[in-house]
Amino acid sequence: IEVQEFDLVVFGASGDLAHRKLLPALYHRDADGQMPENARIICSARRDYTDDDYCDWARTALQEHVKDLEEDHLARFLKRLRYVKIDVATAQGFEDLKKVLDEREDVIRGFYLAVGPDLFGTICENLGRVGAVNDHARVVMEKPIGKDGASAKALNDTVGAVFKEEQIFRIDHYLGKETVQNLMALRFANALFEPLWNAAHIDHVQITVAESLGVGGRAGYYDTAGALRDMVQNHILQLLCLVAMEPPESMNADSVRDEKLKVLKALSPIGNHNLDKLTVRGQYRAGASAGGAVPGYLEELGNDESRTETFVALKAEIANWRWSGVPFYLRTGKRLAQRVSEIVVQFRPIPHSIFGTEAGKITANRLIIRLQPDEGVQMQIMIKDPGPGGMRLRQVPLDMSFADAFKVRNPDAYERLIMDVIRGNQTLFMRRDEVDAAWSWIDPILAAWATSKETPKGYTAGTWGPSASIALVERDGRTWSEDDAE
Ligand code: BG6
Repeated sequence: IEVQEFDLVVFGASGDLAHRKLLPALYHRDADGQMPENARIICSARRDYTDDDYCDWARTALQEHVKDLEEDHLARFLKRLRYVKIDVATAQGFEDLKKVLDEREDVIRGFYLAVGPDLFGTICENLGRVGAVNDHARVVMEKPIGKDGASAKALNDTVGAVFKEEQIFRIDHYLGKETVQNLMALRFANALFEPLWNAAHIDHVQITVAESLGVGGRAGYYDTAGALRDMVQNHILQLLCLVAMEPPESMNADSVRDEKLKVLKALSPIGNHNLDKLTVRGQYRAGASAGGAVPGYLEELGNDESRTETFVALKAEIANWRWSGVPFYLRTGKRLAQRVSEIVVQFRPIPHSIFGTEAGKITANRLIIRLQPDEGVQMQIMIKDPGPGGMRLRQVPLDMSFADAFKVRNPDAYERLIMDVIRGNQTLFMRRDEVDAAWSWIDPILAAWATSKETPKGYTAGTWGPSASIALVERDGRTWSEDDAE
């Protein structure tokens, strides 16, 4: 799809996100020929850089994060970069930015806020003040959008005073992942699954986003957030919405987001009354990861008192016709046994077996959507074991690995999302009411944890989290998927 001429302003351009994600994503889009000829990337930060200094910094970032960097593409890309020094705290530099933007009329103007959320409001107000926000403008916000419903509302109000909702792009980078978008393709471009996609045929769903890394250098931020805010309020609930939503009438942004919103609103509340049955909090202790010893969370943080959870497992229920009685087990954590994100859709067992006991156990079908790494889709089905030994049954995977099926580079989520901002396509971005609805479900859990006598349960780094997480699903006669992998 053709992309219109644009100027993309990146606030926080000397930060970690720009370094690791934004510049590499923009480079790839340019190298793939997706950028209009005169597109500019206007980088802004507090440092006293010249355009050349910033280009040097950007070159280093790209050398570090782009495989197969090509010199001619790199040279073309660096020519697009400009640097404008802005000190958000003192509001200095916004006029300079306006001057640079005014060099071109009628082009898309993107403002990417790759800074802490405490600066979102001030940046937007200043952009409004200097008259930089025109009809072609759009703003991109990174999470966290608030730390609870009230702060999210305040933030959205401030940004909303300068930009209209159609101009606001709230990024959840999980929505830009190829495999996450593929969830929609799987469900709505195939006739096979949708008739079975309900409580009559599905026993339960598991969503796991496991990380092997610890909090590392982000302990300061992380300790104020915890796994529930950092991963569940946004990424995991978005995944749950894509699995559970009704078919939207089209891929139009509001059609999709209307359906996701209905799911969020249908989540059964969790609070003091059912907290212990439905939630597990954990915090990692010293252990081993990737063959080496690693410290515990409290040691990394340098504070013995913290009750911040680095692991959470939840049993969520969606109170509507399609999903009533089907648990959605959600879990995420740092320093777990493996980096793996997957969605497991566990179908119900067959109603009656015509095979005798000698045929072996008949395992119910299971669809596994592997989000990362080794992206792919796997359907576990029963077949007859080959050979003359009678009717013996065996479970086998029908496997589709993206790497094998498509010999192309798997683009990073940000590549897709940034270009969607320029195209003005909000389908993969969170609407304000979605963020509010997600907080409405999360806030009572946080409140109940805050008053609970229980503290997060310790788990050894490099394991699958506290044993209470296993108990959460075992109580229902089920197991987490890795526990019964063959
Ligand atoms: C971020 C969280 O939103 O997502 C991080 O703040 C987390 O704590 C990261 O590590 C995970 O993203 P990905 O793309 O590596 O799965």
